[in-house]
Amino acid sequence: MLYIGIDLGTSAVKLLLMDGKGEIKKIVSKEYPLYFPNPGWSEQNPIDWYEKSMEGMKELLEGQDRSQVAGISFGGQMHGLVILDKDDNVIRNAILWNDGRTTEETNYLNISIGKEKLSQYTANIAFTGFTAPKILWVKKNEPENFAKIEKIMLPKDYLAYRLTGVHSTDVSDASGMLLFDVKNRTWSDEMCDICGVKKKQLPAIYESYQKVGTVKKEIAEQLGISENVIVAAGAGDNAAAAVGTGTVGDGACNISLGTSGTLFISSKKFGVDQFNALHSFDHADGTYHLMGCMLSAASCNKWWMDEIVGTKDYAKEQEPITDERLGSNHVYFLPYLMGERSPHNNPNARGTFIGMTMDNTRADMTQAVLEGVAFALRDSMEVARQLGVAPERTKICGGGAKSPLWQKIMANVMNMKVDILEVEEGPSLGGAMLAAVACGEYASVEDAAKAIVKIKKTVEPDPEIAARYEEKYKVFKQIYPACKGVYDLIARN
Ligand code: XUL
Repeated sequence: MLYIGIDLGTSAVKLLLMDGKGEIKKIVSKEYPLYFPNPGWSEQNPIDWYEKSMEGMKELLEGQDRSQVAGISFGGQMHGLVILDKDDNVIRNAILWNDGRTTEETNYLNISIGKEKLSQYTANIAFTGFTAPKILWVKKNEPENFAKIEKIMLPKDYLAYRLTGVHSTDVSDASGMLLFDVKNRTWSDEMCDICGVKKKQLPAIYESYQKVGTVKKEIAEQLGISENVIVAAGAGDNAAAAVGTGTVGDGACNISLGTSGTLFISSKKFGVDQFNALHSFDHADGTYHLMGCMLSAASCNKWWMDEIVGTKDYAKEQEPITDERLGSNHVYFLPYLMGERSPHNNPNARGTFIGMTMDNTRADMTQAVLEGVAFALRDSMEVARQLGVAPERTKICGGGAKSPLWQKIMANVMNMKVDILEVEEGPSLGGAMLAAVACGEYASVEDAAKAIVKIKKTVEPDPEIAARYEEKYKVFKQIYPACKGVYDLIARN
């Protein structure tokens, strides 16, 4: 049988066709626009997501045996607020995970309601990108839109809704709404009251690998597939990437270097860190996970290469950065181009280069960008280590993970073994695997991961380079506190 995995990303939707053994038959990608209507705001049109996904699925299935398609599922950008009216029209553009407009609402939740209560109700505190502060923002700033809300959903859930007519979400994605009781895998009554949300506006909750419905007749006709094709709930993109990289079970780790950067640690036990610096979310395999999320990761390198250096040849720019230069750079980069989530929770934080001298070259700056992202992920790893969670190795995925240099920097900054996968397709593969589990091809997500995910090679940290980075990390840690006051001043002026 064949399974379609849809990775609904921030810059594009990626669609993957997988057979029952986990072999990838075809991959298609379709871009759509991202809007920044004000500094720090970030929006997309859900109709674009749907249209590009349909276009992509049609292309994906060209020349394939469509009668073999059994299931579809998703990995989706998390936290985005999608609101529909009573006629199923999208009320306004979706407000995305990297949107920083909700400082006031986030402060209201963290300070007036209080972090302790939030953590007790949901296992998390408020971050500007989370969904609940966005609902409060719409309530205050667009009351006419708020009054029209019939249904609230997350980005990938809008696709599931258009495909099946069922208003659903899954536990991993719901975890990032701050309306969800992560420990008990159910909506939080308290948080619904606080945000003025009625339960009937919220979707039905599923485990990520559960069937939500089958495709509607008109969808089956358009795609030339059977009306019996199952749609599974799917997962937030990080949980889906974890499935696609085999980061399931207890204590497994994955680093994703996409537009955002995440450190994902799976856990059979529910757990929360003392300051909620890491997110405590449900996992797509039926368990839990801890996650640190930085808002700009591979996007920092993309910005530096495309906008500043003015090249598309990233590999050539990385060529001069040889082993002896690793851990010896005195230029530092703070990768906070969209503010920062984990662990600083500060939408005012900004990208910062520091430490340059006249002898520095473009390569030193490029290196600093790659290292800055690694150091910022190490910040999240340090929080996990303080919790007693210290994985020795990690998988790596996302666009940035394709750079052998970045893999090496990551292994040495983290001082961890980095496992490189034979097939590195993260969320889209994870989505297809969840569909396969929903269709009964595998008994569990763990079984699917064991059968499908294979390690190609391991990048080991080099003790000398890792020791040099250890010293550099001590310096990196001092820069954010030193700049914080200035970031606030910049934001005010
Ligand atoms: C996770 C997060 C991002 C988005 C990116 O909390 O906000 O990783 O899911 O798509």
